[in-house]
Amino acid sequence: MLNALNPQPQDKILQLIQMYKDDPRSTKIDLGVGVYKDATGLTPVMRAVKTAEKQLWEAETTKTYTGLAGDPAYATALQSLILGDTVPADRLSAVATPGGTGAIRQALELIRLASPEATVWISNPTWPNHPSIIRYLGMKMAEYRYFDAETRGVDFDGMIADLGRAKPGDVVLLHGCCHNPTGANLTLAQWGAVADLLEKTGAIPFIDIAYQGFGDGLEEDAAGTRLIASRMPEVLIAASCSKNFGIYRERTGLLIAISPTAAMRATVQGNLAFLNRQNFSFPPDHGARLVTMILTDDALRADWKAELEEVRLGMLGLRQHLAEELRRLSGSDRFGFLAAHRGMFSRLGATPEQVEALREKHGIYMVGDSRMNIAGLNAQTVPILAKAIIDVGA
Ligand code: LMR
Repeated sequence: MLNALNPQPQDKILQLIQMYKDDPRSTKIDLGVGVYKDATGLTPVMRAVKTAEKQLWEAETTKTYTGLAGDPAYATALQSLILGDTVPADRLSAVATPGGTGAIRQALELIRLASPEATVWISNPTWPNHPSIIRYLGMKMAEYRYFDAETRGVDFDGMIADLGRAKPGDVVLLHGCCHNPTGANLTLAQWGAVADLLEKTGAIPFIDIAYQGFGDGLEEDAAGTRLIASRMPEVLIAASCSKNFGIYRERTGLLIAISPTAAMRATVQGNLAFLNRQNFSFPPDHGARLVTMILTDDALRADWKAELEEVRLGMLGLRQHLAEELRRLSGSDRFGFLAAHRGMFSRLGATPEQVEALREKHGIYMVGDSRMNIAGLNAQTVPILAKAIIDVGA
């Protein structure tokens, strides 16, 4: 049986991790995988997470199963962080999942279960795991234009034109904030126009929100998701706590399904729990419990928010520094988009050859589509990157 297997294509982002590790140069710079790093290159455990872990270690008396949906207190706490009070609780169903990817996978399986013929619309470009999972599940997929290669901003006219072709019951996958890989984001007015279009076409929004708090702030980054949730009868939301709580390896995600009526909630919730049972049974609990403790304790929450804000402002500072250096070296404003982008990533707009030259000649690792992890930089490496970008002619 096993000899029937074919080699799988390598994930481009994960492949880079190994290439970077194998590079012996001490001057190498890792702008690959989306993991936050501080100025010393470490991915720290956040203070509030450490404190919650200590408290949990003292207080936890059992590690027996929670429920198939995870601890309901986790869903309540995270729903409130994402949605505020925009949706009545009796329309909300949710299950804890292994990370944001788990939530995406469960959401897609839910769509396939309810509507096997639905086409899932993804942005061009998007996080490579989106199309990969959709394809693996054998679902229909279409792309909508998103990124304007000239301005490095959102090609909003293209997006609206393409999504205008969505059929009733199709699903539109949107990035809640901090678009991965481009860093180019919708304005609130554009979110409003997307909601108008979804209303017109009858397509269903599916929002992937993995970087809340990394862009313009916790509330600001949720504004688009809240607008959609307040207007649309049905919404799916896949949330990740990997980045904003820095608990990557704890695999802490949540899938939220907003149903049109309260009467539908029990069936939707039952289907979400069913899918958890089929795929992995009970979801992981440790990260979810830490998140619940932090969000429901005033002191822990305040400390977490303060540290998250430091992280956000640090990345913003690096963006501005890089844009400034490039303005100086290029004598033009053509890199101004780097300061306008938000979140962990920016798509530089370099060619694959230029990306390769950055790697081979300068030891600078970014994803092949020229996505850079801004958090991989620090005050010393920003000028080095800027010089290298000019050197390779990007
Ligand atoms: C990324 O885009 O780099 C992160 O979301 C990590 C991953 O799993 O790809």
